[in-house]
Amino acid sequence: MPAGSTTSRDAWWRNGVVYHIYPRSFQDSNGDGIGDLQGIRSRLDYLLDLGVDAVWLSPVYPSPMADFGYDVADYCAIDPRFGTLADFDELAASLRARGLKLILDFVPNHTSIQHPWFLESRRSRDNEWRDWYLWRDPAPGGGAPNNWLSQFGGPAWTFDPHTGQYYCHSFLKEQPDLNWRHPPVRAAMYEAMRFWLRRGVDGFRLDVIYCVVKDELFRDNPPNPEFAAGMAPALRLLSTCTADRPEVQDIVAGMRRVVDEFGDDASARVLIAETYLPIDRLAAYYGREADGSLRGAQLPFNFHLIGTPWQAAAIDALIRDYEAMLPEGAAPNWVLGNHDRSRIATRAGAAAAPLAAMLLLTLRGTPTMYYGDEIGLSDVPLAAEDVQDPWEKNEPGFGHGRDPVRTPMPWSAAPEAGFTTATPWLPLNADWPRRNVLEQASEPGSLLQLYRRLIALRRSHPALNDGAWKSLGVAGNTLAYARQSAGERIVVALNFSADEVALSAHWLADCGRVLLSSHPDRTADLPDTFCLRPNEGVVLGT
Ligand code: GLC
Ligand code: CA
Repeated sequence: MPAGSTTSRDAWWRNGVVYHIYPRSFQDSNGDGIGDLQGIRSRLDYLLDLGVDAVWLSPVYPSPMADFGYDVADYCAIDPRFGTLADFDELAASLRARGLKLILDFVPNHTSIQHPWFLESRRSRDNEWRDWYLWRDPAPGGGAPNNWLSQFGGPAWTFDPHTGQYYCHSFLKEQPDLNWRHPPVRAAMYEAMRFWLRRGVDGFRLDVIYCVVKDELFRDNPPNPEFAAGMAPALRLLSTCTADRPEVQDIVAGMRRVVDEFGDDASARVLIAETYLPIDRLAAYYGREADGSLRGAQLPFNFHLIGTPWQAAAIDALIRDYEAMLPEGAAPNWVLGNHDRSRIATRAGAAAAPLAAMLLLTLRGTPTMYYGDEIGLSDVPLAAEDVQDPWEKNEPGFGHGRDPVRTPMPWSAAPEAGFTTATPWLPLNADWPRRNVLEQASEPGSLLQLYRRLIALRRSHPALNDGAWKSLGVAGNTLAYARQSAGERIVVALNFSADEVALSAHWLADCGRVLLSSHPDRTADLPDTFCLRPNEGVVLGT
């Protein structure tokens, strides 16, 4: 059977739960206030108890940390702050021993300004490495070659006086963009992926993959007609010439060929593509071929739960649109939060966090959880002098600073929440003495316990695991859907409102009992009039 064909029905990534760790903030093992690989290794039993299938680590490669590791200086090594390659191998082995998968973050769009490739490239106009990056002459009248903007503020071009040209950077000037049209770049990056695949990693999350190719003619981006005051300055322009170019698909397909060298279809290594794109643009990233096979990323990230209003009708429409877009055989996936976006407990409110957990873990496909969301961590406000995020430093006040969602994991009521023995690199959440893992592990009805139960329920019910999804509609601000497999039908009803609502009788047809509620005091019986309390969600079965 050709690698990449669509028969990988039981591959783990089709419905396994992915747990995203921001390594700086998970667990410090050596008392420097920064999380590291041995720290993560010491917490694997926690992940096993939680019941997740895979761990995705934000970058741990050597880096000057201008963008906290998303500026890579060596794709084939480990930053000493996180440990050594031996620590990495130990972590990988410990994960494997527990049956957990390991996903690394791969950063193809740009390197660090300190990467040896860039140091060579900037030396002269005619050196062998020049074309590894995007160098351009100044515009005819002087100034930047075109109007492209950096997503982190200012122009996407920085002038290098040594050779009299500008280099392109979609993010910080310390993150020069690679030139993916240049074959040696592709070969080197694919080889870096093989380095980790040989060490046994189960796949990659592909950082801003949709931006890796830019317009060949370097044309200006058009103005954004929807731009309004208060929006991030980079949104003044549409990204027509800098994102989601058709040539990206060729690069994703190349990456897929690389991972397919390392596993047959069911045991395939997985590509998870970072794709901040409208739903109708996501289909392309599955890489559907003329013969119907899918040869792109197995999981183009679906971030739409992050941006959709927290309201039953909007969420129902989102799920329907997304399900309808999926090419045949494609695996859906859902995300509630990550290291770049406001946490769900802040966006939807603490009272809605259990409901959100139930939504994420009862939809069809692969859920990705962000560390800390399982105990209801919210965004931690920071004093101006504590800001570390370079984006926030460049553009203070737009509300897109990312430090508040990257604060240390509170493990217990021990000093510094058990995260470190030093001062943590970012402050802890103020409520850590109460809101921490140890506390919630033993507290009946805690959010952590709900997460555990939901994950266990997914595992034990085929309908939740890989059954079809069908909307049952919306009544007021309550949403219901069915999950159905050959022998089983499950109904999920979610009340997004702050009011009590009676469930429609037809939603309850064929349901015999409550399998799980977001509200721990609910019993299994179906009452005659079934009222959901504010923010209550239930999973109903036979
Ligand atoms: C992605 C990452 C983000 C990073 C950026 C540049 O969006 O998630 O954290 O700053 O790419 O690499
Ligand atoms: Ca450390």
